[in-house]
Amino acid sequence: MKFLVVLATLFAVAQAQLFVNLPNAGSTLVPGQNVLVQIHEPIDTSNEAGQVEVSLVIGLVPCGTAACPAPAADLGEILFIGQYQPQGATSAPLDTFENFTFVVPSDISGAASIQVQHNFLTTLPGPKSEPGVEYASFPVEVGSAGA
Ligand SMILES: *[C@@H]1O[C@H](CO)[C@@H](O)[C@H](O)[C@H]1NC(C)=O
Repeated sequence: MKFLVVLATLFAVAQAQLFVNLPNAGSTLVPGQNVLVQIHEPIDTSNEAGQVEVSLVIGLVPCGTAACPAPAADLGEILFIGQYQPQGATSAPLDTFENFTFVVPSDISGAASIQVQHNFLTTLPGPKSEPGVEYASFPVEVGSAGA
């Protein structure tokens, strides 16, 4: 019974999944140049109590010719560790977002993936806070410097 409750909770969290909105699909990142990574977090309009930010980790992992690793298994070269701090909201869909600007690392080339891990707490009535973690990934191509 308890297991079912946990499953239902995971499902509820999965519905409000964060995602990488920028760079655009098919973008080629150039080592040494800036890339704008925009993270979106859907606004939870359910009756659940507040979500408290814990941490956000953004990395870039090389994939070579294999399938890119799942972010839960490998976050790659870490570009950011901190907190998600929304800078604004979009209305369609109803999201908050934060822009990050990174210098594309020069030790990664070819197929790669932006990997994101988001840790948060959902505070519930009474002395309860439920830990949550969600992942996102976004395939990119890293070209050669100056390309
Ligand atoms: C975030 O980046 C987008 C795309 O470049 C830009 O239109 C927007 O103004 C930026 N927002 C903030 C708050 O920097």
